Amino acid sequence: MKSLSKASQNLLGQPMFKVLAKANELERHGRDIVHFEIGDPDFTTPQNIVDAACGALQSGQTHYTSSWGLHEFRLAICDTTEISRGFRPELNQVLVTPGANIIIYYAVSCVVNPGEDIILPDPYFPTYRSAIEFCRANPIYIPLKESNEFRMNPDDIQAAITDKTRLIIINSPHNPCGSVMTKEELDAVYDIAEKNDIYLLSDEVYSRLIYDSSGRFYSPAHRDKCRERVILINGFSKAFAMTGWRLGCVIGPAAVVDKMQLLLQTTSSCVPPFIQYAGLEAIKGSKEHVSKMAETYKARRELMVQGLNALPGVSCLRPGGAFYVFPNIKKTGMDDETFADVMLNEAGVAVLPGSNFGNAGKGYVRLCYATNEQNIKKGLDRMKECLEKRIK
Ligand SMILES: Cc1ncc(COP(=O)(O)O)c(C=O)c1O
Repeated sequence: MKSLSKASQNLLGQPMFKVLAKANELERHGRDIVHFEIGDPDFTTPQNIVDAACGALQSGQTHYTSSWGLHEFRLAICDTTEISRGFRPELNQVLVTPGANIIIYYAVSCVVNPGEDIILPDPYFPTYRSAIEFCRANPIYIPLKESNEFRMNPDDIQAAITDKTRLIIINSPHNPCGSVMTKEELDAVYDIAEKNDIYLLSDEVYSRLIYDSSGRFYSPAHRDKCRERVILINGFSKAFAMTGWRLGCVIGPAAVVDKMQLLLQTTSSCVPPFIQYAGLEAIKGSKEHVSKMAETYKARRELMVQGLNALPGVSCLRPGGAFYVFPNIKKTGMDDETFADVMLNEAGVAVLPGSNFGNAGKGYVRLCYATNEQNIKKGLDRMKECLEKRIK
């Protein structure tokens, strides 16, 4: 067989889909599985958003648009950014994208050369590593410590900077740990990026899902208004329950976003206009459902954290945002891969091994609580029974 490119051999994808496939296989054989593995809200997309898309489809919004996105939608993104982040980007800094995930690849490929360094947290959202390796850049991992509530420590970032560092990736609220960095930490990271004249990729897809510290979100983008170095990733999947719609947006320095736009044009042409009208309604229309979903996640977080802390050998911090918990399972005597296998096969509960998110995730597992209370209780009861049998 003919060989494949070196770059293609570096593609890693997203390991959570492997656990989902195993769980689905068990379900095909009649097993009942509680799903805590995939970060996909159990809510349906709010009706006003669905109606906006249907209306757009019916009125003929079914053709190519500008690859930048619809003018009206980009203006609305500028308006919301002003409200949520305290600055108004210029229109040429805003690009509408097919989901947030692809922006990671756009950013890495548009600002980093092969052989250059990218600093990122470990544990990390798996696409970071896959995109970095595909582009043949070097990932430089900053381990997140449970003792620091899984927040990235700016001193560790400073110590990892070399003359090859081109980009720092931050993700707050964080997947998989749910941690939220403080304003002081985010400002310190911005200062490091500025002092060393490097880009800062701020993945803010969970910015609307913050439960503590008065629920306020702070973005380092506020510092340079995304004009110099901050590349801000945002998406509609999580807070609006729109994972299947594939809609996101990036705000960044005009020269960077211009190249990303060419890459989008090369690979996808544009985002479907009826999807963009749905996004417009999401940010301009009623937020009633969105606030209800966020309140529900907050209550579920409590249930999940308390339930996990009642399991033998398991201890779990209360994360400040997103919809994940990242409990420590070291005292169960199992490694995280074994723990996830045992939970799936013996208890019928799908969780992800922490090492799917990097070496620092060893000894932890990720559970997503974007599922109803009944499922959370059922999953926790099954895990308890299984662990009590194993740990005498
Ligand atoms: C940290 C982080 N960034 C980006 C994404 C991608 O989101 P989207 O569905 O908008 O592509 C995810 C999805 O899980 C995520 O957790």
